[in-house]
Amino acid sequence: MDRMVVVGGHQLNGTVSTSGAKNAALPILFATLLAEGEHVFKNVPRLKDIDSTAELLESLGCKTQWDSDYFRVKVGKAPSLEAHYDIVRKMRASILCLGPLLAKYGEAVVSMPGGCAIGTRPIDLHLDGMRALGAEIELQEGYVKAKAKKLKGATFVFETTTVGGTENLLMAACLAEGTTILENAAKEPEIVDLANYLIAMGAKISGHGTSVIRIEGVERLFPSEYKIMPDRIEAGTLVIAGAITGGEVTVNQMVPEHIESLTHKMMDAGFKFQIGKDSVTVFKNQGWKAVDMTTNPYPLFPTDLQAQYMALMAVSQGTSVITETVFENRFMHVQELMRLGADITPKTRVAVVRGRPGMLKGAPVMATDLRASASLVLAGLVASGETLVSRIYHLDRGYEKLENKLSALGAHVRRVSE
Ligand code: UD1
Repeated sequence: MDRMVVVGGHQLNGTVSTSGAKNAALPILFATLLAEGEHVFKNVPRLKDIDSTAELLESLGCKTQWDSDYFRVKVGKAPSLEAHYDIVRKMRASILCLGPLLAKYGEAVVSMPGGCAIGTRPIDLHLDGMRALGAEIELQEGYVKAKAKKLKGATFVFETTTVGGTENLLMAACLAEGTTILENAAKEPEIVDLANYLIAMGAKISGHGTSVIRIEGVERLFPSEYKIMPDRIEAGTLVIAGAITGGEVTVNQMVPEHIESLTHKMMDAGFKFQIGKDSVTVFKNQGWKAVDMTTNPYPLFPTDLQAQYMALMAVSQGTSVITETVFENRFMHVQELMRLGADITPKTRVAVVRGRPGMLKGAPVMATDLRASASLVLAGLVASGETLVSRIYHLDRGYEKLENKLSALGAHVRRVSE
């Protein structure tokens, strides 16, 4: 198992590029199941979660292949319709094969998903939505067994905003008979990216990026070529990396609007930015104020940047209150940040962070989930001495070569194998 050694106290300066968005690539790769033939993608990040998706697609009978910068998925005529526990348990997003398989082949058997330990993360809304489109669903021996001769368009109102639920229903509805309207749909940019690929495949979708998405079912979809959008969570993490070390860092190949909730919060804290067409520069800043933050669905502050923002607040001047409204158990990084000397009082969904600028000290810490790992690396960048982050396989699920990107900016970060 690899670990990451971070030697703190080195200012980050320079320019860094983001990779393709993991959370857009995953649903888009599952959308390939909707159309036989060869799909070709650019800007797919090289990550563990992409390997797990490729493994799952292969187990369903598809062929996947890296071809220099391109990722190709060949979907055959009669794929297998069972997504097995051994693969699904590695990645919660595997549930996204349910909608496409059910819509195209009228049947799917998918293991109940595992993934990050950040709350119970049910899939009830995915299943309710499929039922609304006419599917019969049974839960047996840890598997979701779904059947529908032909899905039928319907209006479905999500009780809670769910990114994965919206994606699963969006994909399924493309091949349903008639019109589907998804209300209280998630508005994340990754949903828009998925919708754009589905449209490139021949789907009829409007309203994506708003809370009401309208889908006119079509008979057939066709494979296409597509470039995955840049990763906004990686972009935000890199902006915070520059900021927390007091450096000047430009993050390019990104969409500045996608991280506005972060940059606006950081402006309130006293940071200055230059916002370009596809880049954001954070300028040097020696001391910043504590600013409260609450996570919420897009376009508000993303839960996937909560842990990284907390690292920034742990070394701010003053006290901030961080509220997590999306997941009920997403403060596991708090205990680990406290090992580095952070002063944080966590309650169920609220953490009070008393900033201690210049006071963190390196220590061995353990990554507990993907974004928590990133926050520990960020805190390690400003802690004096050495921080040893173990279990960084979590980090590898979602960040492409993070240690190389940080090192190129001047960080002293290296990976060691146990
Ligand atoms: C996606 C992202 C994840 C991000 C999250 C919220 C991917 C692969 N993952 O996860 O990085 O943190 O969005 O932005 O894109 N819920 C239900 N029932 C359901 C589905 C969800 O109650 O059927 C609840 C969840 O427990 C959670 C909330 O809805 O409290 C939001 O979850 P959801 O948006 O579905 O997250 P994911 O799609 O799993």
